[in-house]
Amino acid sequence: MADRAEAHIDANQSRFIEELKQFMRFPSVSAQRARDKDTRACAEWLVEHFRKLGLEAQLIDIGGQPIVRAAAKGKKSRRVLIYGHYDVQPEDPLAEWKTPPFEPTIRDGILYGRGATDDKGQVFAHIKAIESLLATEGELPCEVMFLLEGEEESGGDALPRYVRQAREELACDAVVISDSTMYDANTPAITNGLRGIFTFEFTVKGPSSDVHSGAYGGAIANPAMVVAQILAACVSPEGKVLVPHFYDDVAPLEDWERENFRKLGFDDQALARELSIPRLHGEAGYSTLERLWARPTFEVNGVLGGYQGQGAKTIIPASATAKVSVRLVPHQDPARIRDLVFEHIRGVCPDTVRLEIPGCAMSPPVLFDVNTPVIRAAQEALRKGFGREAVFIRCGGSIPVVSTFVEQLRCPVVLMGFGLDSDHPHGPNEHFSLDSFIRGAKAAVHLLRAI
Ligand code: BES
Ligand code: MN
Ligand code: MN
Repeated sequence: MADRAEAHIDANQSRFIEELKQFMRFPSVSAQRARDKDTRACAEWLVEHFRKLGLEAQLIDIGGQPIVRAAAKGKKSRRVLIYGHYDVQPEDPLAEWKTPPFEPTIRDGILYGRGATDDKGQVFAHIKAIESLLATEGELPCEVMFLLEGEEESGGDALPRYVRQAREELACDAVVISDSTMYDANTPAITNGLRGIFTFEFTVKGPSSDVHSGAYGGAIANPAMVVAQILAACVSPEGKVLVPHFYDDVAPLEDWERENFRKLGFDDQALARELSIPRLHGEAGYSTLERLWARPTFEVNGVLGGYQGQGAKTIIPASATAKVSVRLVPHQDPARIRDLVFEHIRGVCPDTVRLEIPGCAMSPPVLFDVNTPVIRAAQEALRKGFGREAVFIRCGGSIPVVSTFVEQLRCPVVLMGFGLDSDHPHGPNEHFSLDSFIRGAKAAVHLLRAI
């Protein structure tokens, strides 16, 4: 028998895609205050959209960007919470976009625009799954609640705070999230672990203003050089983090998972080609997938300081800054790692300059049990939606609120992503395959039924 909800998805594809484009036209960049109005307008659009579909929807304002909450009853009282985020990363570097970031464009079956894969396209697949079930069956197979936040990309804490406040109302049987990736374009995946993250910046201050590098060079420390020396003292040339006790709590992989990583058969050369680099780099003794998914890292995100203009300018800069993200894995504790890193940096910084570390943001790593009924439901859903067996992967990125769900709601969490790392999330020309969007919507239908 033909599946009526799937048929509805196929028949309404082009309208769904037009609606997704509308969703993507809002420049909901949560990091930028100048975009606060657009971010709110995007949330209001979602509330309207949910109401048109027959869900009870509202904005939740508790400081920070608004949270969109929408709910619908189902045949069974079992309840699924679907999480996602409607905010996006800043669009820069703007000059590298082939078509404007907030004017979504389709080329060769691929939708280009900021938020296409991270996370508007993936969220919208779930919304259209709900629409298709309601349109064809009049009722959902189980109760559904959407919680869509507007500050995932900027380290906001509105949603974690709300989850702590409203944990009783939010009680559910499973949390479902599509904000991660498939293994490759043909292989759907369930993400069974996310790295945690801890971001900070530090500033090294020298003379009260930039000074002549001939007049003073040799007599005083150079802040930009000190930043370089501090960074070099944090990571060895082959990628080992040099902060004492950094690796103390890192959990080794279980045998099944090491074997799983090996079987996925990662192609190092293909990645090097894709990224136009001579070869890969990282901690010795670990495979690429282990380094990406199960080992912690210390990455420099930006270095600022000194003269940036054309030609030479002979100065010793007054100050220099580095921005850093540290990725964490089970069972590293973000607060302990923060203390270790700051202590190390303070220890290696010479007393010829002043060091300032203004603050930091962090979220813990998570690892899920894969032997649960909800995971089996997701496997079945992905098999039906994508026509292929799902594999287990981990993800090197972070979704901060997930650890709050685990801790406060104490229910199984399933991450089934429809994107690809090569979709360029956060970069120029972000995109999402429309085929994955449609298959994802079908998988979302099957997941609610299976749960
Ligand atoms: N969707 C990503 C997380 C992700 C990244 C999943 C790569 C799968 C592969 C999420 O939106 C994200 O970018 N998270 C940030 C969190 C940070 C801003 C606190 C990250 O990981 O950098
Ligand atoms: Mn995301
Ligand atoms: Mn992101």
